[in-house]
Amino acid sequence: MQTIRYGGDYNPEQWPEEIWREDVRLMREAGVNLVSLGVFNWGIIEPAPGEYDWSGLDEIVELLHGNGIGVNLGTPTSSPPAWLRQAHPEIRLVDAEGRTLAGGSRHGVCPSHPAYRDACASIVEQLAQRYGKHPAVELWHVHNEYGWANVECYCEASTAAFQGWLAEKYGDVDRLNDAWGTAFWGLVYRSFDQIEAPAVAPPGVNPALQLDWKRFSNDEHIANYRLQREVIARHSPAPATTNFMIPNCEGMDYWRWAGTVDVVSNNHYLIAEREDHQIELSMSADLTRAVAGGPWMIMEHSTSAVNWQPRNIAKTPGELRRNSLAHVARGADGLMFFQWRASRAGAEKFHSAMVPHGGTDTGVWRDVAALGNDLKQLSSVVGSEVAADVAVLWDWESWWALELEWRPSADLKYRERVEAYYAALWRQHVTVDFAHPEADLSGYRLVVAPSSYVLTDAASKNLRGYVENGGHLVVSYFSGIVDEHDTVHPGAHPGALRETLGLWIEEFHPLHENETLELDSGAAGRIWSEHVRLDGAEAVARFAAGPDQGRPALTRHDLGRGTAWYAATALDESSGLNELLATAMDTAGVERPQGIPENVEVVRRGAHRFLINHTGQDVQVPGSGVNALDGTAYDGRVPVPAGEVVVLADA
Ligand code: GAL
Repeated sequence: MQTIRYGGDYNPEQWPEEIWREDVRLMREAGVNLVSLGVFNWGIIEPAPGEYDWSGLDEIVELLHGNGIGVNLGTPTSSPPAWLRQAHPEIRLVDAEGRTLAGGSRHGVCPSHPAYRDACASIVEQLAQRYGKHPAVELWHVHNEYGWANVECYCEASTAAFQGWLAEKYGDVDRLNDAWGTAFWGLVYRSFDQIEAPAVAPPGVNPALQLDWKRFSNDEHIANYRLQREVIARHSPAPATTNFMIPNCEGMDYWRWAGTVDVVSNNHYLIAEREDHQIELSMSADLTRAVAGGPWMIMEHSTSAVNWQPRNIAKTPGELRRNSLAHVARGADGLMFFQWRASRAGAEKFHSAMVPHGGTDTGVWRDVAALGNDLKQLSSVVGSEVAADVAVLWDWESWWALELEWRPSADLKYRERVEAYYAALWRQHVTVDFAHPEADLSGYRLVVAPSSYVLTDAASKNLRGYVENGGHLVVSYFSGIVDEHDTVHPGAHPGALRETLGLWIEEFHPLHENETLELDSGAAGRIWSEHVRLDGAEAVARFAAGPDQGRPALTRHDLGRGTAWYAATALDESSGLNELLATAMDTAGVERPQGIPENVEVVRRGAHRFLINHTGQDVQVPGSGVNALDGTAYDGRVPVPAGEVVVLADA
């Protein structure tokens, strides 16, 4: 049986050699079994073009290996050396305003530039040749956070690559004109080389152009990953990953990345100032599991505060453990931190670490060591699946498209609705999966579509078939409006969902900022109102005020063997959202755990139940089983002390 992988980014090049031995001793003490090495060391291992210095890396790999610690070997391509920028100034990143970005940091290069790609292939070739078959190398950590600061580059090389990408996609420029609707404003192209990257331009840039630009930019990073992966595969049997940033990197469409990596890994940092930050963590973990299609690993999270938020709030006692085990509960088989030892110099010296500046007589270190040792006892969790009856639709393309210019309201925000629905389900202790709108949904009793602005014809058919075959669907306003080119589906809104929902919309009536409208059910809506015309559906609640007073606000449509619900306004948990979800879940037969106190997270993974108490009070949770860490058996009620986590194995 495999163990949970535990460790962090290890940057020994920042420390004198005496510290390395101490590091390895402490790693063993804390149960560390994997470290990410060499993620940013290009300038050190290749001090000048074609000159290599392996002395430090050779020694540290042997030291780790000799101590039974595996290596997740980084390819250092996210931090190109100064000599490369000097030799090839043309690889420097150009932003949307046409500014060429200076060096002195990481990432500032064009992902498409052939000179940068060649340099990547060459350093990876050297690394893979040298370490590819070393028994310490368990995993390859390709690049670091593709798209972190250079999602898009607007240099000439990028524009040329974009034109090539479009030619490949559309074949003929008239097909592109058709797909992009360029007859509007006469923005017709006669050849692919007339197309410009959508840098800063007068307002109203063709949205279809902008969407393809985002797809292209994402694919350029995938292409860089593939290039490196192919080089590695020639020399090394070890699997490879790259660290995703789900869901906080809008620019990467991780559905497109899903099949490319051998192991899905994710970096997640709490948005610490948000009161509900543990819910955002759960959402990140559930979405990462969906992208992975099974178990995955956390490549980076923090032991306490980060250093790049406006106010870097330290974790509260027990939070490191709650965060870590929440990831495991939701499918993580590896827990890695950024970083092992706090840096003295450079930009991240105020970032927490496994070994803080204060050393081992600190709460953080004690928590790190305790967690590592507990994880050894949770090996039986590895590989097990999280099962959910409810899916929430997620699509980066809807996120991109919904937030382009000139929408009916500035308050239409992709994550606003997804997070509202997700949080309401989380607080009702319902574990959800995320799914792409074209995915097979037949395994779910309930599917929620909070922000599905873009739906392709295939997705539209998929959702209709899902309902007809007995599924239950909840849709929020401004969904199913356009296709993948941001072109309105023919006829009245919502073209992709009219038949499924049994209604059509005569006119949108966005609300004023902070305006709320009463519904006749006692609920209230924000952001949105619209003139819904029923065509098969029935009204469950009506607007009691505003431009659509007396008209349907919540509807239900029984179709085939299933039901489709629609909310024509923004409901919140305290104002009708919980009731809508409860009714839909009751109709769909979704079972919810009973008797769980508020803010206690309960997640089943395989033969284990994770009980995470986010409150300051000791609580009792109904259930039976054996505490996986201390062997205590419970029959009926399980005590979970304030701020603690209990992992319960089925008896
Ligand atoms: C990540 C990055 C790490 C480190 C960390 C700090 O975005 O991959 O190298 O900078 O943030 O939170």
